[in-house]
Amino acid sequence: MKNNKSVNYGNWVPKKMLWILLGIALILVAGSFLPVPFFVQIILWIVAAFFLFLFFYLSCAYYLFAKNGNELQHNIHHAMIDKLSWNGEGKALDIGTGSGACAVKVAKKFQNSKVTGIDTWGKAWSYSLKVCENNATTEGVGKQTKFQKASGADLPFDDGEFDASVSNFVFHEVRDAKDKREVVQEALRVVKKGGAFSFQDLFLSEKIYGEIEDLLKTIRGWGIEEVHFTSTAYLVDIPRLLRIPGMLGEIGIIYGKK
Ligand SMILES: C[S@@+](CC[C@H](N)C(=O)[O-])C[C@H]1O[C@@H](n2cnc3c(N)ncnc32)[C@H](O)[C@@H]1O
Repeated sequence: MKNNKSVNYGNWVPKKMLWILLGIALILVAGSFLPVPFFVQIILWIVAAFFLFLFFYLSCAYYLFAKNGNELQHNIHHAMIDKLSWNGEGKALDIGTGSGACAVKVAKKFQNSKVTGIDTWGKAWSYSLKVCENNATTEGVGKQTKFQKASGADLPFDDGEFDASVSNFVFHEVRDAKDKREVVQEALRVVKKGGAFSFQDLFLSEKIYGEIEDLLKTIRGWGIEEVHFTSTAYLVDIPRLLRIPGMLGEIGIIYGKK
């Protein structure tokens, strides 16, 4: 297969979003110069200032996540993969693979493994099946990996089909599951007994998952042999700027053996 010889792992802050925020701020400022009442002008400036603030904040986040910035995205991927206690023999699944970044990292780390990456590849992200295949081929793991469209809410695989499963920063986004704990359960369903798993998400968000201790107790109650949790902040140096809810303030890893 032809590839363009460069990888594209994108950024968790889509560039498109930055341009939209800047565009809105500029339109609002331009609008304030129209013949409008003074109080409307003030409101337009306040709203424009809010959008400009978001633009600058997310631009900083973009830089920190990027490969030529702080490489945070890459380090967070590694934190999750390092917690996967697996000998690398057999099949692994990466749920919500995005650009294939984690699937490729797993394949490179475990050279005897076969890795499947699934994603819905919706419009919110610039990721696609083609991007994944290109990244895998360029990184030399094209034959070890395969990618397919599927939802984390309803995986098209049998119970216990995989020897290992990973997922990074996806479960909270799975819209077709109201209760995100069900997405965790579905991710564990396809892991065989004794298989390894490592999932990173906003597990410290009580709004999404409830209390972490209760979540871990629930997972153990599903008959999972070994369940551990660590806050990602203990493993990766997350800048203060990003340690807020909704960004990386509530990110953690649930890992263990089924
Ligand atoms: C923040 S990105 C993370 C991508 C990748 N795991 C990484 O760490 O770079 C979230 C990903 O979740 C995917 N996603 C959203 N809803 C999904 C669903 N129902 N099933 C599978 N993937 C989903 C998105 O398409 C996107 O690729």
